[in-house]
Amino acid sequence: MNLMILNAKIVHPRPLGAACTEPGTGTIYIVDGVFAERDQATAAGLIDADGAPREGTDVVDATGLYALPGLIDAHAHLRDPGQEYKESIATGTRAAARGGFTSVLCMPNTIPVIDNAAVVRYVIDKARREGAVNVFPIGAVTKGQQGVEIAEIGLMQEAGAVAVSDDGAPVSTAAMLQRALLYAADFGIPVIDHCEDLSLAAGGLMNEGLNSTVMGVQGIPAVAEDIIVARDIELAGYLGLSIHLAHISTAGAVALIRRAKARGIRVTCETCPHYFTLTDDHCLGFNTLARVNPPLRRPEDVAAVIEGLADGTIDMIATDHAPHHDDEKDIEFAHARNGMTGLETAWQLAWTRLVLPGHLEIGDLARLMSRAPSERFGLGRGGFEAGKPADLILVDPEREVTVDRFRMLSRAHNSPYHGMTLQSDVVRTYVGGREVYRG
Ligand code: DOR
Repeated sequence: MNLMILNAKIVHPRPLGAACTEPGTGTIYIVDGVFAERDQATAAGLIDADGAPREGTDVVDATGLYALPGLIDAHAHLRDPGQEYKESIATGTRAAARGGFTSVLCMPNTIPVIDNAAVVRYVIDKARREGAVNVFPIGAVTKGQQGVEIAEIGLMQEAGAVAVSDDGAPVSTAAMLQRALLYAADFGIPVIDHCEDLSLAAGGLMNEGLNSTVMGVQGIPAVAEDIIVARDIELAGYLGLSIHLAHISTAGAVALIRRAKARGIRVTCETCPHYFTLTDDHCLGFNTLARVNPPLRRPEDVAAVIEGLADGTIDMIATDHAPHHDDEKDIEFAHARNGMTGLETAWQLAWTRLVLPGHLEIGDLARLMSRAPSERFGLGRGGFEAGKPADLILVDPEREVTVDRFRMLSRAHNSPYHGMTLQSDVVRTYVGGREVYRG
């Protein structure tokens, strides 16, 4: 995999608090699937002593395009094994490549659950055979995600799991979470918690508020998220261990995490595009595409999530790509499944809703969507440093896309963004120097 990319505006992840800099135009060298310095490219025979490409060298002219480190999704549901009618490793990773994601961490709520080394190996082997991008499995915290008996975290880590989570549900009790944090720390992998107090959320279909009242639908109060966020923060602080909180959606959770970081507690978290772009107004009309867990919240929560992204309280943007079959969405609101697809719209939404209005700059997206998840989950990616796997994307900031949920590479159609016109698009995706998507 030898390649030379010319004239790209190269976007390096902007460290929090660093000055904003306009990306400089430069050349990217890829030798044997990894990023290389110019002298390494010369030694490998890509270019001559004057820097001109030799005959046979693949050259891409990226004039007018940004080059970013490949995006990394810390939270996706690939539904494989067991629910390939919704998505598979093959279709989910093609959707990822189309969205600019070169690595995807996949959640263990599959059938069977990824709760032992054999299933971890199944996912890794299948991804190697059929996957368009890198797949890193997340193992379950408890056997069958039942919350009763802890899973073999060490064996799963040895087989390639990069984190553990009972996502879809919170870790059942504080005692179970304590055991999981201690056990996972021995193997150096994070515990990811889904923050929802099930006793408060029980029976709820959408955010509790004016809209749920108007619709006559039982609500899920924001405090159901905040209570588990608080539990997790206090436990991590007590143990002196780190924890990662999934899909943060409430103003209260953002405030708790901000305060915890100021106290020196080792908490990281992610939010998802739907929590900085949509409110529970989208549920009006019993729109099942807007059903998701945690639910879409109020405008003040959206504002708090954006503020959390801007000040570093929220460490990363993940998709929570949750594909479902039409038969699970084109039904009554109360029976529809929770979740929306996200891999093919995350970049465009982040650019249109965060960068264009001036909340963030492009280097922040390189941090939030690539460097930060790479560092948190130990993936050794997220930048252009020589020797790193050549995972990168080329982005056209001028290109407009109108989302068509029936024309996606995902097997599923459950995107609430159907018909929305967004600015900026991914035009090339490379994994290990190999082109896996061309727009
Ligand atoms: O909306 C959601 N869908 N939230 C979750 O936590 C799980 C996910 C799924 O697996 O469909």
